[in-house]
Amino acid sequence: MANKNLNQAKDAKKDEFYTQLADIEKELRHYTEHFRDKTVFCNCDDPYESNFFKYFALNFNRLGLKRLIATCYDGSPVLGNELLLDFGETTDLPKKIAYKVDITEVTDVNGDGAINLADIQYLMQNDKNVISILKGNGDFRSDECVELLKQADIVVTNPPFSLFREYIAQLIKYEKLFLIIGPYNALTYKEIFPLIRDNKMWLGYGFQAGNAYFRIPNNSTKEYVEGVFDESTGLVKFRNCTWYTNIDHVKRHEELILYKNYTLEEYPHYDNYYAIEVKKVSDIPYDYEGVMGVPITFIDKFNPDQFQILGITENNINLQQYWIPNCKKYDRPYLNGERKYSRILIRKKQK
Ligand SMILES: C[S@@+](CC[C@H](N)C(=O)[O-])C[C@H]1O[C@@H](n2cnc3c(N)ncnc32)[C@H](O)[C@@H]1O
Repeated sequence: MANKNLNQAKDAKKDEFYTQLADIEKELRHYTEHFRDKTVFCNCDDPYESNFFKYFALNFNRLGLKRLIATCYDGSPVLGNELLLDFGETTDLPKKIAYKVDITEVTDVNGDGAINLADIQYLMQNDKNVISILKGNGDFRSDECVELLKQADIVVTNPPFSLFREYIAQLIKYEKLFLIIGPYNALTYKEIFPLIRDNKMWLGYGFQAGNAYFRIPNNSTKEYVEGVFDESTGLVKFRNCTWYTNIDHVKRHEELILYKNYTLEEYPHYDNYYAIEVKKVSDIPYDYEGVMGVPITFIDKFNPDQFQILGITENNINLQQYWIPNCKKYDRPYLNGERKYSRILIRKKQK
């Protein structure tokens, strides 16, 4: 039990890293037209800390938003201190409180057309905007946060990675549009992969060269191994994050240019699957109509008009129809008795 609690605490600490405004801007510019008249919900976001909240407050009028809601979680070690002052609370009260900010109007005070202040106090001068303490702890799964989720059209945030499966399951259950950051390897989770296969979710544009830099609370640098935390910038670098979405975008329909032709020598058949091995995504042959095993990074290039995803070779019982009978090893593909990397099985779509 003690170990379980310790692990949970460690996981919670590892969830505390904050997205930079520039990264949000870089990804969000590809989806601008989807936000008009929409209610956006940032449900893992302390408005004082979160650049997601800041981005939408700053761009409220440009995007034509109807409403922006942000809720934060009282488990966050950085949460709530500023807000106590706003509510005129005394220091006897607990330091951490969960609250909600609900914005329906952002006014241009100078009349110069520019909104350059995402400051909470400034936004709250407008009677149409409300800041209130939540009844519970701001957990995205709590009844009051689910009620807000139901009112939202699009959820945009960087949620706790330790709860990523549950987080996605909730978005799917309530049929919400979303644009969120998550761990790259979540692609292969047995709860997530079928959503990708069935075109219910896909990758966004992602971070430049796969490098994502985040801010962390001051006291947590020692949680990160050397090389991850950069003292000169105060940022941590993760290679394992990406954007997940179910909002359509241009890149998703870009055709992957195929230039290699199929030969039996270069593309051997697996021992245990009716499929050929393709070592690199760029090597997918243009003239092979059957099933191909490709690296997981294929998902970055996946265009649903060009290819069909059949499954992933690990933990996926749905691939039964591609198994070669009387072969004992049905997880990863085998080539001449050698176990290979996990592969995604795909097929070209008929034009
Ligand atoms: C990866 S951080 C990102 C914070 C912020 N969204 C951003 O991008 O800067 C995830 C946040 O989710 C919060 N969190 C953890 N568990 C949560 C829960 N059950 N419900 C809501 N938020 C939670 C954490 O406290 C943390 O601040």
